[in-house]
This record gives sequence, C-alpha cells and structure tokens, in this order.
Amino acid sequence: MRILVATTNKGKLKEFKQLLEPFGIEVLSLDDMEEKFEVEEDKQTFLENAIKKAKEYAKFYNLPVIAEDAGLEVEVLNGYPGVYSARFYDIDFGGKEEVLDSKDKANIKKLLRLMEGVSNRKARFVSNVVFYSPDDFGLWAEGYCEGVITEEPKGEGGFGYDPVFQPEGYEKTMAQLTPEEKNKISHRGKAVRKLVEKLKKVL
Ligand code: IMP
Repeated sequence: MRILVATTNKGKLKEFKQLLEPFGIEVLSLDDMEEKFEVEEDKQTFLENAIKKAKEYAKFYNLPVIAEDAGLEVEVLNGYPGVYSARFYDIDFGGKEEVLDSKDKANIKKLLRLMEGVSNRKARFVSNVVFYSPDDFGLWAEGYCEGVITEEPKGEGGFGYDPVFQPEGYEKTMAQLTPEEKNKISHRGKAVRKLVEKLKKVL
C-alpha cells in the first residue's frame, strides 16, 4: 500500500518512514508530488488540523493520506506552545523571538526564556494522526509522551524541541536517544502504531 504522508518536515518524515515501512507501507511525501498544494493549519486543536490536512490532501492528490498535527504542551504555560509549536517564536504569547539559525532554535530559545527559574517543568508531546482515503474513509489515533523541559539544550538527534525535552524515566533528552529509542516511546510512535492496528482491521 502507498500512503502520502502529508508533511515537508524532514525530521517527521524520517520517523514516519521508520514507523510505517516495517508494515509494508510505501511512504510518499509532499516533496514527491509534482504539483504543489498547501493546506493552512488554522484550527484550534491538533485533531481538527490533522483532519483538515488529511481530507484536503487526499482529495487533491487522489491518494490515501496520513496527516499529523503534533506539538508540545507545557503545564505551567497553560498548554502552550500547543498548536503553535512550529511557529512559537513568532506568536505574541511571551514575546517574539528572532530567527538567527533556525526556527527550531528560536522556538527553544523562547521556551527556555519563559521557563527561566520555573520549578514546575512538566510537559508532554502530543500527536494526532489521521488516515483519510479519497473515497471518504477516515481513521484517527492519538499518542502522548510525558516528560520535563530541561534547563539547556542537549543532543543532536531528532528535531524541534527534542534537545530540551527529557522523557519520563530517562536521564537523557529526546535528542540524545537513538531513532529506535525515540520511536518506541514517542507520541508519534504510539499514535502511528495505534493507527496501523486500526487500519489492519479494515483493509
Ligand atoms: P506540525 O508540523 O504543525 O505538526 O508542527 C509540529 C511542531 O511541534 C514541530 O515543528 C516541532 O516544533 C514540534 N514537535 C512535534 N513533534 C515533535 C517531536 O517529535 N520532537 C520535537 N518537536 C516536535
């Protein structure tokens, strides 16, 4: 089975391939599509954004699609960055941050600035994945990964907020884990495995 994973994020795509290929699923990405089409993520929840992306890409490309909306929720920040995780540096909440190297680094800089001197560092990653096929069949799954925000970035692996997220039960950040270790415990790994189990029942 060929599925279009509706992302251009290289870090995410790599993880989706590692998670889906063992089930015999061939993964295409938006970069493989000749005709370019972009869906705006303008909803208030991860699920609504994932449904919107999955439906619109499935209709446009006439392919079965898996779309994800994911992010980091920090307890003391009332769940922010949440659905704004990818562009946290650029939203008014907590002041904007200039992008010097990369958006990921600007996001981390802002998060650490807001968390300076804060003792409650509890956070979780959330992933909502939606499968949608052009014949209007859809499935949904969700995964969480609980942890804490570290005082400083550590590690080179993963992407996004991985260098400042220490999963529960680990002395390392997500960016210090191997890809296999991350996939085993990550929000995305849990959500995708649940989704594949559901897909296997109906296909
Ligand atoms: P999305 O592409 O709208 O789902 O944005 C997700 C954003 O949340 C990314 O740009 C990252 O900043 C963050 N994020 C999601 N999943 C992860 C992860 O596994 N590690 C680190 N950051 C993540």
